[in-house]
Amino acid sequence: PEFITVGELANRMAERVGDVIKAMMKMGVMATQNQTIDADTAELVIEEFGHRINRVSEADVEDGISGAEDKAEDLKSRAPVVTIMGHVDHGKTSLLDALRQTDVAGGEAGGITQHIGAYQVKLEGGDQITFLDTPGHAAFTEMRMRGANVTDIVVLVVAADDGIQPQTKEAIAHSKAAEVPIIVAINKCDKPEADPGRIRNQLLEHELVPEELGGDIMCLEVSAKAKLNLDKLEEAILLQAEMLELSANPNRRAEGAIVEAKLEKGRGSVATVLVQRGTVRVGDVFVAGAESGRVRALLNDKGRNIEEAGPSVPVEVLGLQGTPQAGDDFVVVRDDTQAREIAEYRQRKAKEATQAIAGRGTLEQMFSQI
Ligand code: GTP
Ligand code: MG
Repeated sequence: PEFITVGELANRMAERVGDVIKAMMKMGVMATQNQTIDADTAELVIEEFGHRINRVSEADVEDGISGAEDKAEDLKSRAPVVTIMGHVDHGKTSLLDALRQTDVAGGEAGGITQHIGAYQVKLEGGDQITFLDTPGHAAFTEMRMRGANVTDIVVLVVAADDGIQPQTKEAIAHSKAAEVPIIVAINKCDKPEADPGRIRNQLLEHELVPEELGGDIMCLEVSAKAKLNLDKLEEAILLQAEMLELSANPNRRAEGAIVEAKLEKGRGSVATVLVQRGTVRVGDVFVAGAESGRVRALLNDKGRNIEEAGPSVPVEVLGLQGTPQAGDDFVVVRDDTQAREIAEYRQRKAKEATQAIAGRGTLEQMFSQI
């Protein structure tokens, strides 16, 4: 749509409509407030008023959302972010529950994970691990496609009585594509028919060579039900994390990824954000994908209000203007104006992409910043 109404043009220039109509009459163009004019005419009018045409570009958006790179001395070690993956019913949620010493699965409708949960587990020694429980691999793939590589380590759950199944293979493929190290949790080892040796051999077929067979894949025999070897699994995660030397600068404007977002009755749009660097605080202004907002409240994974959240901390954010998508970025910006500019730019771009408008920038784009 290479057209804009006279009224809208006046509005964007912050000039009176009457003045714009008069100026156009002098130029020999007769148009009323609600009539549309084309890009060339609009450009002439803008120049007549001495305004500059300022196209919002991807570069401006990038400037707004990405601060300077962090200096090595500002980096502090951070908790590993672990995604639990595996075939249906192999015990992903049960394992996570056991690790959290809480019971989420019990409250789930039909025992199937309904959403992506993000939880922090604090271990006895003080070490922390952030867990993501995915409802399926679609979410993981989608997030990865959207550029959100949030996971440091994948824990692949394989039921000892069932072995490698289609979704196990999928999980292996996704992890490899994302170049994320895998730790295998052979679950349900409390069952009499459990055969962990068979699972190890199956893993070989997928080029995952367990340490016991001379490779570098850590394999733990666990039981979520009998709470068997959970400490060993946690140790393995921390060991793997140590090798990855995970770090982030907590002292900067926060950046992260949307793990989940939904519209909730009485609460508005709510997003689970995984902070990846910096620290988010109540009152911060942010962009989340094509949405913007101001942090009204932050809640931790136990549902408690907190004032701030640093790297690797999953946090529920209230105060969104709209509902972003899983995998969108979450970036704290300078102020409301910048947040709105970036969100509007992205909304326009998304709209254009769906309308498949070819060629150079549209009028909307050109005049958004007069
Ligand atoms: P989805 O989210 O639906 O993909 O399933 P999930 O992988 O999260 O599995 P979930 O934790 O819901 O467990 C599936 C079933 O296996 C439940 O009936 C659990 O009680 C059972 N289960 C999980 N872990 C164990 C275990 O270590 N031993 C035994 N015996 N049963 C287990
Ligand atoms: Mg589950």
